[in-house]
Amino acid sequence: MCLRIIVICLLVVLLVDFIGFTEALDQNGDGVCIVKLSSRNRRKRPYNVAINKWCGRKKCVVRKYRFETYLTWTNHTVCCNGWQHDSELDICEAICSTGCYGGKCISPEQCICLPPAHLDPDRPNTCVTPVCNPTCVNADCHANNTCLCKPDYKPYNSTHCFKCDDGYTADENLNCVPICDNPCINSTCTAPNTCTCAEGYRPKNSSVCEPICDCVNADCIAPNTCSCFKGYIPVNKTFCAPKCNSCSHGDCISPNNCTCHSGYVKIKGVCKPQCSKTCVNSFCTAPNVCSCKKGYVKSNSSDNVCVVPCDENCKGYCDDGGCVKWNCSSKPIEIQ
Ligand SMILES: *[C@@H]1O[C@H](CO)[C@@H](O)[C@H](O)[C@H]1NC(C)=O
Ligand SMILES: *[C@@H]1O[C@H](CO)[C@@H](O)[C@H](O)[C@H]1NC(C)=O
Ligand SMILES: *[C@@H]1O[C@H](CO)[C@@H](O)[C@H](O)[C@H]1NC(C)=O
Ligand SMILES: *[C@@H]1O[C@H](CO)[C@@H](O)[C@H](O)[C@H]1NC(C)=O
Ligand SMILES: *[C@@H]1O[C@H](CO)[C@@H](O)[C@H](O)[C@H]1NC(C)=O
Ligand SMILES: *[C@@H]1O[C@H](CO)[C@@H](O)[C@H](O)[C@H]1NC(C)=O
Ligand SMILES: *[C@@H]1O[C@H](CO)[C@@H](O)[C@H](O)[C@H]1NC(C)=O
Ligand SMILES: *[C@@H]1O[C@H](CO)[C@@H](O)[C@H](O)[C@H]1NC(C)=O
Ligand SMILES: *[C@@H]1O[C@H](CO)[C@@H](O)[C@H](O)[C@H]1NC(C)=O
Repeated sequence: MCLRIIVICLLVVLLVDFIGFTEALDQNGDGVCIVKLSSRNRRKRPYNVAINKWCGRKKCVVRKYRFETYLTWTNHTVCCNGWQHDSELDICEAICSTGCYGGKCISPEQCICLPPAHLDPDRPNTCVTPVCNPTCVNADCHANNTCLCKPDYKPYNSTHCFKCDDGYTADENLNCVPICDNPCINSTCTAPNTCTCAEGYRPKNSSVCEPICDCVNADCIAPNTCSCFKGYIPVNKTFCAPKCNSCSHGDCISPNNCTCHSGYVKIKGVCKPQCSKTCVNSFCTAPNVCSCKKGYVKSNSSDNVCVVPCDENCKGYCDDGGCVKWNCSSKPIEIQ
């Protein structure tokens, strides 16, 4: 700021001495004024005087001299009003009449403070520096407990500022980290809007990753970890089978859905073997297989018939129905 006032004044010769020591001031300096000084000089001036003698038709003249004073003007540099000369630096210094503590008097009665210091409203001649506690990081303490981010920095919170490239932001340690607009699920944001799946995960879409496993009848809940569907039980790490309360002679094809093997039919929820002919004195124990009741043996003639075995000591004759006894024993044969 150049507050230069050109004042042209007439000063009397007496002041020349005072002016003398400021003559070297730079006329472009702050607070420097130019004054025009006059100095009085004397010089001899000739003039003609007519004398009482005739020179032809005119009176003769003689040349005489007299002294006259005249003024010459020179420019001098002085400090303007409100400024004073600093003889050491040979510059003009503005005067702040009540002082300018902690600041700089840049023009008469104008005290400025170096930011972030500012004039105390109560004492306009005193600069005060604001105090920020906690201290500002990448920011300047602009006013008491008010931080202003340094140029190109963005606020992180009320005390901390950060500078990151586009697409990045600061983490709690003020390190720059990429921004993913959709949160990365089971993955990490490795570049702006780029999620990278964690190990054991594969991308589901641009921001979501799902665990990888090879589950059958189960949900993949973590890498290589299956969780059986409801109604299923684990067979091994990856395979779940449907669970049926009891399913012998059948296949449990879905939870509590037991399908009997061929040759069996479901009776009261249980797979029973089917025998095409009625089993006599025997049980149907497998498809078309009659198993004799205790004490009976297979008949020689029909597969589905069991008969009382013929005693080796049979006193009579062996019929398919067993020993047909002669009337040789008092008691009739006991049939179990
Ligand atoms: C004195 O200053 C005036 C302007 O203030 C300028 O016009 C003039 O030329 C200067 N004279 C000399 C001798 O430098
Ligand atoms: C700033 O804080 C200092 C010291 O705590 C205090 O003296 C001063 O008055 C405060 N300034 C303002 C503008 O509140
Ligand atoms: C601002 O963030 C920094 C860095 O995470 C932290 O240390 C500080 O306590 C925070 N300040 C406030 C006022 O939240
Ligand atoms: C990705 O999938 C999740 C869940 O399946 C869904 O909520 C999200 O909107 C999808 N995001 C994109 C970008 O398709
Ligand atoms: C993320 O992984 C967990 C298991 O690690 C899984 O339960 C969850 O379904 C996964 N999220 C998505 C959206 O796939
Ligand atoms: C798990 O059991 C299924 C069915 O029994 C079988 O096909 C598969 O190979 C088994 N897997 C492992 C890893 O044992
Ligand atoms: C059992 O499974 C069979 C074959 O899939 C189906 O036809 C039948 O309806 C199922 N029964 C029940 C009770 O779910
Ligand atoms: C069947 O035949 C054999 C020999 O022919 C005989 O020993 C056996 O007792 C007979 N079995 C019955 C139950 O009749
Ligand atoms: C054996 O005796 C009974 C009476 O005890 C009789 O009815 C039957 O006819 C006799 N059988 C033979 C072959 O004699």
